[in-house]
Amino acid sequence: MLQQFLSSNVNQRTDAYGGSIENRVRMPLEMMDAIMAEVGADKTGVRVNPGHTFNELVENDVPELYAHYLEELQTRRLPSPHVVRLFANDSAIDLEAFANQQYNGNTMMSGDYNLASTTKADAERRAAAVAFGKPHISNRDLAERFKTGGPLAECDEATFYAPGPKVYIDYPRYETK
Ligand SMILES: Cc1cc2nc3c(=O)[nH]c(=O)nc-3n(C[C@H](O)[C@H](O)[C@H](O)COP(=O)(O)O)c2cc1C
Repeated sequence: MLQQFLSSNVNQRTDAYGGSIENRVRMPLEMMDAIMAEVGADKTGVRVNPGHTFNELVENDVPELYAHYLEELQTRRLPSPHVVRLFANDSAIDLEAFANQQYNGNTMMSGDYNLASTTKADAERRAAAVAFGKPHISNRDLAERFKTGGPLAECDEATFYAPGPKVYIDYPRYETK
C-alpha cells in the first residue's frame, strides 16, 4: 500500500497525499512517525523498494523520489533502512552507491547479492549489511555454505507462494561427506 502512494501512476490523488514527491511520501512518513511514536525509532524498520514494478506500478522519478524519502527517514533518525535494489536495476542509478550516499553508508541492501558482491559491498563500505532472500530459501544452511565454499542450490520458482506441502523445507542441506 505504501508503495502505491509513492507511485507516479497508481497514486492519482489530488489532495495532500498525491502529486508532488513531498505529497507522495507523506503517507509512508506519517505511518513511520506513528509507529516510532508508539515503539521508538530503535525498534522501527522500513523496507524501501526504489523503482518497484509489481502490479504495474510506475515510479518515473526514482532518484529524486528516493533522495527525498531517504533524507526524510534519516532526519527521523530511523536506523538502517532496508533497501531492495531489484527494481531500479535498469534505471540510470547505481542503487547501492545512491542509497548509501543518501544514508551515510548505513543501509541494509538486498537484491541479487551473492558472496562475492556482498564481500565487495562490505569492503567498499557500500552497505552496513546485506540480506538474502532466494538463496536462503534453497539453502537453509546458507551461512555454512558461504563459510565452506559449498555450491549453492537454485530455487524452484514454481514453489514460490505455493500452498502445497512441497515448499521451502524440501531443499536438502549440503552434505560434505
Ligand atoms: C517467495 C518470495 C516472497 C517474498 N516476499 C516478500 C515480502 O512479503 N515482502 C518483501 O518486502 N519482500 C519479499 N520478497 C523479496 C525478498 O525479500 C528479497 O528482497 C528479494 O527476493 C531480493 O533478494 P534476493 O535476490 O536475495 O532474493 C520475497 C521474495 C520471494 C522470492
